[in-house]
Amino acid sequence: MDLAHGALVVALLAVIGVTTSFTKRKAQGHPPLPPGPKPLPILGNLHRMNTDYPWITYKEWSDIYGDIIYSRILNQDVIILNSEKVARALLEKRSSNYSDRPRFATVELFGIAFRTVMRSYGDVWRRHRRIFHQAFRPEAAVIYRPMQLRKARQLLVDLLHDPAKYETHLETHSASIVMSAVYDYETKPNDPLVSMIREAMDRIIHAETPEKTAIIDSYPALTLIPAWFPGASFKRHALELKSVLKDMVEKPFEYAIDRISSGLSASSMVSEGLARFQGDPSFELAIKESSATAFGAGSETTHSALLVFIQAMTLNPEVQKRAQAEIDRIVGSERLPDFGDRASMPYIEAVLRETLRFHPIAPLAVPHAAVNDDVYEGYFIPKGITIVTNVWAMTHDATKYPAPFEFKPERFFTSSGDLNDDCVTPVWGWGRRICVGRYIADASLWSAIASMLAVFDFLKATDANGKDIDFEPRWTSGIASRPMTFPCQIVPRRRDMDVEKLTSLIATTV
Ligand code: HEM
Repeated sequence: MDLAHGALVVALLAVIGVTTSFTKRKAQGHPPLPPGPKPLPILGNLHRMNTDYPWITYKEWSDIYGDIIYSRILNQDVIILNSEKVARALLEKRSSNYSDRPRFATVELFGIAFRTVMRSYGDVWRRHRRIFHQAFRPEAAVIYRPMQLRKARQLLVDLLHDPAKYETHLETHSASIVMSAVYDYETKPNDPLVSMIREAMDRIIHAETPEKTAIIDSYPALTLIPAWFPGASFKRHALELKSVLKDMVEKPFEYAIDRISSGLSASSMVSEGLARFQGDPSFELAIKESSATAFGAGSETTHSALLVFIQAMTLNPEVQKRAQAEIDRIVGSERLPDFGDRASMPYIEAVLRETLRFHPIAPLAVPHAAVNDDVYEGYFIPKGITIVTNVWAMTHDATKYPAPFEFKPERFFTSSGDLNDDCVTPVWGWGRRICVGRYIADASLWSAIASMLAVFDFLKATDANGKDIDFEPRWTSGIASRPMTFPCQIVPRRRDMDVEKLTSLIATTV
C-alpha cells in the first residue's frame, strides 16, 4: 500500500471507525494509565510526533509527563520508558512479565515471524536464545577473535585501495564477520550468497516501512483485503517476500551443512548448535531460523556503529589524536593492535563507549510487550501493551552525560583517571531479550576501531580551494538509525609509504 493510496486508507479507517483504543477501555476500573499527551480520535498522538525521529518527541514529552508515558499512535497503545531506572525496574526486575514482543499483523503477513527478534516469549524463542547463547556467550565468542582481526585487516586493505567507498567496505566487513561466525562462510567480493541475503533484507525493510506497518498493524483487518484490491499492493509484496525468505533461510544453512560434512568446518553458530542439540528435532528448525536472524540483527547494526565512529573522528580531530597517541605508545609502529592490547588502551575503550552512546543505532531498541496486567508506581500497565524504551533519551540525559551532543570519551573516566564502570548497556537492550550478539559485536567494533585508528587519519574533505568542508551530523530514520552520507577523507597516517608497501605491511600482521 503506497501513500498515493492515502485517500483509500482514510476511507477504510473511517469504515473501520475505531476511535477509542482497546487499552483505554480496558483500563477502566484500574489505576490510571501513565500520563501522556491527549490523543485525537483515529490519529492518536501521531500529529504531534516527529515521525522521522520519534525518540526526540518522546524525550520532549518526558520533560512534561515524566519517565513513563502513555501514548496512542493511530490505534496502537504504547508505553514509553524514558529513563534507565524505570526500564530496569520493569524490563529487568520484572522480566518474566516484560519479555514478550508486540504482535504485529505485518510480521505474520510478510512471513518474517520466524526471526528470533520478533518471536513471542515462549518455548521456540527460548530454543533460539539457547542456540545463540551456545555460540556467542563470552567464553565461546573469543573463538571468533582471530577471524575478527583478520576481517579488520581486510577492512584496512579495502580502505587503502578505495577510501571513498568506505561505506561499502564497512558493510562488507560486518557482513563477512556474521557470515563467518554463523555459517563458517568466507565471503568473496560481490558475493552471490550475501547479495541474495541483502536483497531479502532490503525487501523486508521495504515491506516494513513505518507508514505501512503503522497503518496495517493498527488496523489488522486490512490484511483481509484481497491482493487484487486497488491499493493492496502490500499483499502482492507479501507473497513475493515469502519465496525470497525461503532462500535466505535455506541456502546459507545448506552451505554450512556441506562444510560440516566435509570435515573442514571451523566453529560456527550452526556447527555449535548442531553439535550441542543433535538429534533433537525441535532444535533443527530453530537452528536454521535463529541463524537466518543473525545477518539482519548483526550486520547492519555493526556497520552503522562504525559509521558513527568515522563521523565522530572526522569531526573531533583532538579525540582522534589522543586515541592514536595511545595506540602508538602501547602498540608501536611495527605491528597492529590485537586483543592482547585491549586492557592497556583505556582511551580506545572510552572511544568505543562514546560511539555507542553518542548515537545509539537502535534509538528505541526493539519494543517489548507486557505478558500480564501490571501496576507500577500507581500506574496501570495493561496486558499486551507495547513497551518502547527510549535509549536515545537515556544516552542524552544531561544529568548523567553533561553536554550530551559533544563527543567526549573523557566522560568515561573517573577523577583519578581510571575507566568508570558505565558500559552504556542500554544500547544492547534489556533483561531476557538483551542482544545475544553483544559480545561478538563488541569485539568486531573494537578490532575495527583500533585497527583503523592505527593506520588512518580521518579528515574533513576539502573543497576546490582546499578549504575544509564543514557539516553537521544528520541521521537516517527508522528502527535502526545511522549517519547519513557525510564528506570525509581517509588517508594513511604513514605518508612515507605507498599503498602497495602499506598493504604488505598490513598483510604481515594478519
Ligand atoms: C552494534 C551492534 C549491535 C547493537 C547495538 C545491537 C542492539 C540490539 C538491541 C537494542 C536489541 C533488542 C534488545 C531488547 O529487545 O531489549 C538486540 C536484539 C538482538 N540482537 Fe543485537 N545488536 C548488535 C549486534 C548484534 C549481532 C552481531 C548479533 C548476532 C550475530 C545480534 C543479534 C541479536 C538478536 C538475535 C536479537 C534478538 C534477541 C531477542 O529478541 O531475544 N545483534 N540487539
